[in-house]
Amino acid sequence: MNVKELINIALDARERAYVPYSNFKVGAALLSKSGKIYTGCNIESASFTPTICAERTAISKAVSEGDRDIEAIAVVGNMEDFTYPCGVCRQVIREFGKNATIIIAKSEEEYKLYSLDDLLPYSFGPEDLDK
Ligand code: THU
Repeated sequence: MNVKELINIALDARERAYVPYSNFKVGAALLSKSGKIYTGCNIESASFTPTICAERTAISKAVSEGDRDIEAIAVVGNMEDFTYPCGVCRQVIREFGKNATIIIAKSEEEYKLYSLDDLLPYSFGPEDLDK
């Protein structure tokens, strides 16, 4: 996996964010186990609730194309600080990427790597329903 390339693609995707209400742009780039890359940006709504985060946009694109296994996902926000996935996105990453690497980046040079377990310990997932 090329971490810097994935961050660069997420930075590009961030430009397409539709954020008239928060003005907080987020970009994501998802690398699937099949080797394909899916991008995502946050898309807001005047009625607020339908807003979708960049991470879930990318995951929805991957899953709807039949790609259900996340190898890695890079996330970039537009603030000085690192932008971490919200709780809902962590749970959705859990569904399709129990062993995924989560790249939290400000730039190609400044990033941190996490496992899903770092961000969502003691998680509940598909296997729990099989017991
Ligand atoms: N947002 C994301 O896209 N991803 C995150 O990980 C955190 C929050 C978006 C949702 C909303 O459009 C804006 O950031 C402010 O919450």
